[in-house]
Parts: sequence; C-alpha cells; structure tokens
Amino acid sequence: MNNFIYQNTTRIIFGEGQIKGIADAIPANAKVLVTYGGGSIKKNGVYDQVAAALAAHTWSEFGGIEPNPQYDTLMKAVARIREEGFDFLLAVGGGSVLDGTKFIAAAVPYTKGDPWNILANFESVSQALPIGCVLTLPATGSESNGGAVVSRGSDKLFFVSEPVRPKFAVLDPATTLSLSPRQVANGVVDAFVHTMEQYLTYPVNAKVQDRFAEGLLLTLIEEGPKALATPENLAVRANIMWTATLALNDLIGCGVPQDWTTHMIGHELTGHFGLDHGRTLSIVLPAVMRYRRTQKEGKLLQYAERVFGITEGTAEERIDKAIAVTIDFFRTMQVPVSLTDAGLDAAAIDKAVQSLAEHNRTGMGERGDITPEDCRAILKLAL
Ligand code: NZQ
Ligand code: ZN
Repeated sequence: MNNFIYQNTTRIIFGEGQIKGIADAIPANAKVLVTYGGGSIKKNGVYDQVAAALAAHTWSEFGGIEPNPQYDTLMKAVARIREEGFDFLLAVGGGSVLDGTKFIAAAVPYTKGDPWNILANFESVSQALPIGCVLTLPATGSESNGGAVVSRGSDKLFFVSEPVRPKFAVLDPATTLSLSPRQVANGVVDAFVHTMEQYLTYPVNAKVQDRFAEGLLLTLIEEGPKALATPENLAVRANIMWTATLALNDLIGCGVPQDWTTHMIGHELTGHFGLDHGRTLSIVLPAVMRYRRTQKEGKLLQYAERVFGITEGTAEERIDKAIAVTIDFFRTMQVPVSLTDAGLDAAAIDKAVQSLAEHNRTGMGERGDITPEDCRAILKLAL
C-alpha cells in the first residue's frame, strides 16, 4: 500500500430526528446563513426542523442554488455575506447545495481576484467560512469531504480544499424519503462509481481498503434496488445514506491509486447536455471498464469474484461477465447505460472531447496515461 495521511474532521450526526443536533453543533454566537436549493426542503418538513433547531441563533436564508450549482447564483450569496457579515454557513440539501456552499465559503474571504480562479486554476484555498450541513440526498459524499463541483455555462469544474470540509453533517435518512425514484437511483449509482474510481485500478496490497470498498459495493447492489421497490423502508435508506458518505470521505482512497476518468468525462456530459451527474456515470463507467480491461485486469478479476461471485471461465470471460453484471445492476436502477439511452449521439463525443482538452484533462486514470483522445475511444464504446 502507498504512503498516506488521513484526517477527516467532519462530525457525523446520524439518524432519524437528529436535525435538532445542529443547535449544539453551531456556535451560539454565530450569525448563520442557511443555504438551500429549489425548495424541496420546504415541502418535506426539513426546513421547519432546521428553523426550529435554530430558534436561539441569529440566522437568515439564501435559497435557489440549482442542481449543478451555477457560479452566478453563488456569487449573489457571496455579495450578501460580505455585506451582512454572516460567519457560519449551514447547507441544507443535496450535493449541489453543499458544493455551492463550499464555493461561497471559499469565495467570501478570497482576495486574489475573481473567485472563479479557484476552479479555473484548481487552487487550494487556505481560508473559508465554516460550514455545517444537513444532507437530504445520499450520493456525492460532499457532506464530509473537501471537494466541490461548480458550473459556469458549460464549464463544470471542481476544487478540493481542507477548509471547506464541513464541520458537521447531519445524516437523517428520513429526509431522503421524499426523493424521487430518479434521484434515489442517481445517488446509488454515484456512490457506486465513487467506490469504483478508488477501487478498480491496480492492486497495491491494500487489503482493508479493498474489502471496505467491496463492502460498500455489495451494500449498494443489495439495498439500491430495495430503495426503488420499497421506497418507504427507512432501514434501507439509512444503509444507503451511510454507504454514500463512506464512499467518498477519503477513507477507502487512502494509500491506493485512483482513477476518476469516468467522473471527468461525466462532468463534460453534464456541462454540455445537462445530464444528471449519476446518469453520466452509468453511461461512462462500463465503457471505461471495457477500454481499460488490460490495465485493470487484476482488480477486474477481484471485483468479479468478490462482489459478484464470478469464478468460472477464463480471465477474459470473467471480465466480460463482470462488466455485463455491472450494466445489469445499473439497468435495475433504471439509469441509462449508453449515450443512446440518454438521447445523445456521436456529435456529443466531439464536444465532450474538445472540452476535456480545453480543461487540460491530459493525464487521467490511475497511471496518468488517459488523454482526451482515449476518452473519444471510451465514449465510442458508450454509444
Ligand atoms: O433543489 P432542491 O429543491 O432541494 O431539489 C433537489 C434537486 O432538484 C432534489 N432533492 C434533494 N434532496 C431532496 C430532493 N428532492 C426531494 N427530497 C429530498 N430529500 O434533488 C435534485 C438534485 O439535487 P443535487 O443536489 O443536484 O443532487 P446530488 O446530491 O446528486 O448532487 C449532484 C452534484 O454534486 C456534484 C455533482 O457533479 C453535481 O453537481 N458532485 C459532488 C461531489 C463532491 N463534492 O465530492 C462528488 C460527486 O462526484 C459529484 O461530482
Ligand atoms: Zn460522483
């Protein structure tokens, strides 16, 4: 296993009815800005729970952060915070609200020009307003990591910085009961692919990371379809919620090579064509598995055996089977598994490849050897 430093400082407050815990988690004298999205929290009772918990705090709100949060919207919050002097941000919503809030938190004290530079130059910020969050959509892991993805027009870019890692995250699975089946599926697939990006590379004898990753994959394969079939089942939601957090909280990525090609291609598909994040991943991952089957052979065989119990046949046959059952799983989750499924054709490939080049995605993959032209070949396999 490779050397690593691991530190995750987010306090997790997990379980039904835990939103009230924010009262103690936020400093009593803080001036709090609650950020949220398009209004789902006002329909499912989450906003009311947050408001009740903040009864003794000074607070105001900023709504309207859209899915795939947009720079222009976020900069309005930045202007307001600079004017009114908020000193704690409470993000209430899914990954987009959390990511948008991370950008706001980093942009407020930013003094080196336009805060878009943070994304355009992949800068690491040293300062940010403190953030807490109430997560309502298990998917991204944003609730306890230092990453955020923000869009400006068709440019969908990310940054990673320790100061934006949330101080605490409330994970109440009951908040997820109001999700549409589409968002439930997107979330399960996102968590699945986060795990795969850190697992399906090449072996480095990282036994715990591998087995932990396999446990997360198995849980998602087991519980994902149940969340669609029995949407009222809170125990299923609880398992999915904790799995999604663990899939991208830095733990399984310790000391192992990582890929992230699927995500980089996926971000371009969302940037240009507005596809939901999770749906870009179910389209691209199987094609990456096929394109990189030689480089990933060891881990593909391990995945086949340990996650799907595939032990019969030649190595080639077992890899084919592993890719096929992965696609089956995505189909069970009712997400697209090809560009065609998502209504896209070959013209989409040119746009995505061009943007990958413009965004300097020249050395992707666990070996740093995947170029935008490789992505063209991958996307052709995804047609
Ligand atoms: O805006 P509201 O009204 O809240 O509605 C949202 C939104 O329309 C709705 N929703 C959320 N919780 C709900 C709910 N509806 C009913 N009941 C609830 N409990 O769901 C819709 C989608 O929300 P969004 O936050 O966009 O989804 P998700 O959590 O999947 O986040 C996706 C974003 O996160 C980024 C993606 O690229 C994308 O921009 N990612 C962030 C990562 C990170 N920070 O580490 C890693 C990921 O790979 C990903 O890239
Ligand atoms: Zn993702």
